[in-house]
Amino acid sequence: MEKIVSLCKRRGFVFQNSEIYGGVNGIWDLGPLGVALANNIKKEWWNSMVISRDDVVGFDSSILSSPRVWEASGHVKSFTDPLVECKVCHERFRADHNKEIEEHGKTHPSTGSGQAPSWTDVKHFNLMFKTFLGPIEDDKNKTYLRPETAQGIFVNFENVLSTTRVKIPFGIAQIGKGFRNEITTGNFLFRVREFEMMELEFFTEPGEDSKWFDYWRKERLKWYLNLGIKEKNIKLVDLPKKDIAHYSKGTSEIWYNWPFMGFGELEGIANRGDYDLTQHSKFSGKELPYFDRESKKRFTPFVIEPSVGVGRAILAFLIDSYSEEGDRVVLKLHPKLAPIKAAVFPLLANKPELAKLARVVYKDLKKEFGSIAFDDRGNIGKRYYSQDEIGTPYCITVDFQSLEDQTVTVRDRDTMKQERIKVKELSSFVKKKLD
Ligand code: GAP
Repeated sequence: MEKIVSLCKRRGFVFQNSEIYGGVNGIWDLGPLGVALANNIKKEWWNSMVISRDDVVGFDSSILSSPRVWEASGHVKSFTDPLVECKVCHERFRADHNKEIEEHGKTHPSTGSGQAPSWTDVKHFNLMFKTFLGPIEDDKNKTYLRPETAQGIFVNFENVLSTTRVKIPFGIAQIGKGFRNEITTGNFLFRVREFEMMELEFFTEPGEDSKWFDYWRKERLKWYLNLGIKEKNIKLVDLPKKDIAHYSKGTSEIWYNWPFMGFGELEGIANRGDYDLTQHSKFSGKELPYFDRESKKRFTPFVIEPSVGVGRAILAFLIDSYSEEGDRVVLKLHPKLAPIKAAVFPLLANKPELAKLARVVYKDLKKEFGSIAFDDRGNIGKRYYSQDEIGTPYCITVDFQSLEDQTVTVRDRDTMKQERIKVKELSSFVKKKLD
């Protein structure tokens, strides 16, 4: 794990937020390669959940909303984690994180007294960040940064119904920031306080919910496998009732085999039942049922919700693709996710005719694929290794033969094999690999 954190910093994937001021726990910034990877993950998610389907529409709600939203959703009352504090050193922990509490017993600073830790009673700590709408900071103006994007969809259910031609079963998908004041953060991007979420709320007729729950569990697992996550590192797990959120009738999780904890949550797929629409109907006084014109049935839809953090997905894809082969480090990212699709090199930097042709190849590919790199520094071996480390699937070298026959070598990141390809066929070669 340290190797991945260090690679992320060294190559500009992820930086600690406010690093020059000592850093802030649980908040990270994405560097140039990190934002490219995140964008590719979000694009793949959006393509598979919205663009490629006829039964899902997109949405983008605000981070701030009426505080009534969070009263209705149950978050004000129930979005809490159990907290204990060490009375000796005042460090705070999740009461249900037994391993961290045990560790603290061995390492806590006993403020010189040599005292063993002693714990307060468990308190329930609400994870929502509070803020104020307008200049007056009183209870009347208090609201929250959203801890999930889902509620923005539920409170707009009627708006979407009346402005589109969707018919149940259908979904509304959204990607956006969520904020949680986690008691403890850690394991790099795994548990943080500000993160992007990719959420689908899929509305079904009651009675059809189990079928769709099962459908989405399988679809979501397939998505990770299709993007290269190794089968041995990922699995679906049904959670026992005691471990599920206040709104859920049943939850499955996609678990990834994290190096710091073994198998644990990557994504949740919940059957939220009719909880949210019923609550918003109650609190707003507005009826939110669905009327099916064909069957003439009126009902409050049930909701199936696959939801995953972008950062957690980034972490899983980085861990899964990281490999060391002799003295080279390779990120074997799926080409669709790779931040840079191909790098173009002139074999020698000091031969203008090579550099000229390499620039033409680079510009043509860049026009078509956007994320193409050009590198003429150092020796060719070092340039290959530098691209391997950031997951670039193809390195294209312009050499002396290129000047004679308009061919280049294309070196494959994973096999390190090279093949000669005509310059005019490069674009279709790269396109095919990205399909
Ligand atoms: N709307 C459903 C929902 O919010 P959740 O299980 O609390 O469900 C969904 O969160 C996903 O968001 C998780 O599966 C995880 O991928 C991600 N996530 C949750 N809390 C996180 C945190 N503190 N840091 C990073 N990712 C987080």
